[in-house]
Amino acid sequence: MNPQPTAPPAPTTDDDALIRTLPHLHKRAQSELLPDVWAYIDSGAGSEITVNDNEDAFRTWRLLPRQLTGVTTVDTTANFLGLRLAAPVLTAPIGCDGLLHPDGQRGIVEAAAECGIAAVVSEASGLALEDVAAAATGPKLMQVHARGNVGEFLAMADRAHAAGYSALCVTIDCPVLGWRERLRRLSVTVDPQHFSGNHPDGRFAAELLGETGSAWTWRTLAEVAARLPLPLVVKGVLSAADATHALECGAQAVIVSNHGGRQLDSAPATLDQLPEVLEVIDGQIQVGIDGGFRTGTDVFKALALGADAVLLGRSVAMGLALAGRAGVAKVVELFLAELRRTMLLAGCARISDINADLLRRRP
Ligand SMILES: Cc1cc2nc3c(=O)[nH]c(=O)nc-3n(C[C@H](O)[C@H](O)[C@H](O)COP(=O)(O)O)c2cc1C
Repeated sequence: MNPQPTAPPAPTTDDDALIRTLPHLHKRAQSELLPDVWAYIDSGAGSEITVNDNEDAFRTWRLLPRQLTGVTTVDTTANFLGLRLAAPVLTAPIGCDGLLHPDGQRGIVEAAAECGIAAVVSEASGLALEDVAAAATGPKLMQVHARGNVGEFLAMADRAHAAGYSALCVTIDCPVLGWRERLRRLSVTVDPQHFSGNHPDGRFAAELLGETGSAWTWRTLAEVAARLPLPLVVKGVLSAADATHALECGAQAVIVSNHGGRQLDSAPATLDQLPEVLEVIDGQIQVGIDGGFRTGTDVFKALALGADAVLLGRSVAMGLALAGRAGVAKVVELFLAELRRTMLLAGCARISDINADLLRRRP
C-alpha cells in the first residue's frame, strides 16, 4: 500500500528553527518567501554583475591567524559617529519594509537595539520616521535621498533631528531607480503605501518611480550640509573623487556602497573600492561599507582592510521577511557570534587588533 502523501510541515514562526546559520537564512528565504518578496530583496540591477562582484570580492582575501595568543574572550565594542555599539555593525536602510513583514522598519530598529547596534532608517519606509523613532530604544540614523526640493529635504532633516536621530545619512547613488531586470520580468509592482510613510502626498513615490535623474550636485549637498541640524553621512561613495567631495561637504562619515548592486550594474565591488576611499579620507572621518556581507568573516575582512563599520542589507531584509523583529535579531546575533569566533580564531581580543597583517591575497 502506498503511504498517504504527508502534508508539508506548517511554517514555523520560531526564529531559531527558521534561521540556524547565515547560509541557511538565504536558502530558507529563497524557498519560503513569496516570489515577489524574494525577488524584491534579492535582485539587483541589470545582469547583477555588481551583486555577484560584491560577494566575490571577499574571496580575494584569506585570513592569516595568529596562534597561541592567549586570547580567551573578545570585546567587539566599537564607536561609530560617537555612538557606542556592541560591534561595528549597523542595519542598512531598507525601503518598502511593509512589503517584507508587518513589523517593518519598527522591527528592524527594535532588533538593532536588542543587539546593541545602530539602525539606519530608510526614508522610503511605509512608516513615518517619528513612528519608527518611537519604537527605537537604541541609536538610529535617518537615511534620505539626495534629490527633490531642498526646502523639503531640510524639513525632513529637522523632523529627524526632533525625533532623536543621531545623524542624517544621505544616499547619493539613487538619482533614478536602477534597472531591476528580475522585478520587471516578474512584473512586480510595489504598493506606494509601503514606501510613502514619510511622504503621504505621493510626490516622493512619483519621483522615485519616475524616469528622470536628480538635479542635485555636490554644490547642492554642500549648501544643504551647512544648514543641517545633524551630522552628515554620505552613502554611496565609491571613488577617490567622490570621497574628496564628501570631505569638502563636511561629512562626518562616508559609506562605501553601490546600493548592494541595485543601482548601476557593473559598478565595482565595494570591498575593492574601500582602499581607494580610505586613502583619500586618511583617517579624517569614519568610513563604513556595505555590499555582499554574508558572514562574520566578511565583516572581519572589511575591518582588517580599514573600515570602521559594516552595514547589513539583504541579510537583515531576509531576516525581517522571514520572522519580523525576531528574525532580524537572529540574523544580527549570528553575524556577531561569527565575528566573535573569527576574532578568537585569529587571535584578536579587540576590534582594534584586527588589521591588514591578518590578510593575505589569495594566490
Ligand atoms: C530590500 C532592500 C531595500 C533597500 N532600500 C534602500 C533604501 O531605501 N535606501 C538606501 O539608501 N538603500 C537601500 N537599500 C540598499 C541597502 O541600504 C544597502 O546599501 C545594500 O543592501 C547593501 O548590500 P547587501 O544587500 O549586499 O548587504 C536597500 C536594499 C535592499 C536589499
